[in-house]
Amino acid sequence: MRSAGCAKALPIVCLLWIVLAASACDRSLDSQDTTASERADPTPMLLIAHRGASGLAPEHTLASFELAVEIGVDFLEQDLQQTRDGALVVLHDDTLNRTARGPEADCSGRVHDKTLAQLERCDFGAWFREKHPAVGDRFDGQRILTLDTLIERFGHSVRYYIETKHPEEAEDLEDSLLSTLSEHGLLEADSASSLVFQSFSKESLVVLAEKAPRVPRVQLLDRKEVEPPYDVQLSEIAKYADGIGPNYRDVDATLVEAAHRHGLKIHVYTVNDPEEMRRLEALDVDGIFSDFPDRYRELNAEASAP
Ligand code: G3P
Ligand code: CA
Repeated sequence: MRSAGCAKALPIVCLLWIVLAASACDRSLDSQDTTASERADPTPMLLIAHRGASGLAPEHTLASFELAVEIGVDFLEQDLQQTRDGALVVLHDDTLNRTARGPEADCSGRVHDKTLAQLERCDFGAWFREKHPAVGDRFDGQRILTLDTLIERFGHSVRYYIETKHPEEAEDLEDSLLSTLSEHGLLEADSASSLVFQSFSKESLVVLAEKAPRVPRVQLLDRKEVEPPYDVQLSEIAKYADGIGPNYRDVDATLVEAAHRHGLKIHVYTVNDPEEMRRLEALDVDGIFSDFPDRYRELNAEASAP
């Protein structure tokens, strides 16, 4: 199945996959308990595919997640929203305007105002061709992805890094999320390491901490939401979360040290520049979200070349 998928992928991605497949999707969050310099692992930071390999394929589509798996990542990241009729869909924006094409009544406006049946009439791949004409029509026709469909596709073979998006506007986002994960056996004791929950909403993380305490939680932080001195803020976060997710522009050695001092992992978004990847690795951050996971794999391939 991987070879067939690879044949459709970009040649450089195929090459990277062949070289690096052995390292894909096989490390746990707890494997980061040593410093980067102490680790023998040549890929010490967790690599989190941000909305899939969303720099190479339209975000939050099966094509994007399949490409991320072929590249070899530690987690697939997805933003979760709820439709008007309660379906869980993976979409980032609160409106459809940027990434959906199709009948205007169904494919523009707010996600929360649409039913799943309406979203099923939209094309979530065509916008990527408009933005990157060189890709041609290979992604046209990508459909709305529900959390259920995503998990049906990849099952327990990958790990999911799930963000509750706009939870305050949803009917029962956390309960519905947990119910879906439970149906797929992902909340069993031996599967909880396949998941991370993340949110900009403290309230959502607190609910998830109460209802699914085994699943690690990461408090996302907006640009400049975290500023020195860090101790008061981080000690508060450490009461309900296992890590923080800051913007890469806010990350320096002081923040990394402070997070680790409070027992918090630090997973940084959204890191696409190889030089920035190197900088963060040297700072000993625990993970990065990237639209271009191939770039980080390529860096490591170069570093391990004779
Ligand atoms: O979840 C990490 C990062 O994705 C947060 O920013 O806006 O891309 O969801 P956003
Ligand atoms: Ca996100």
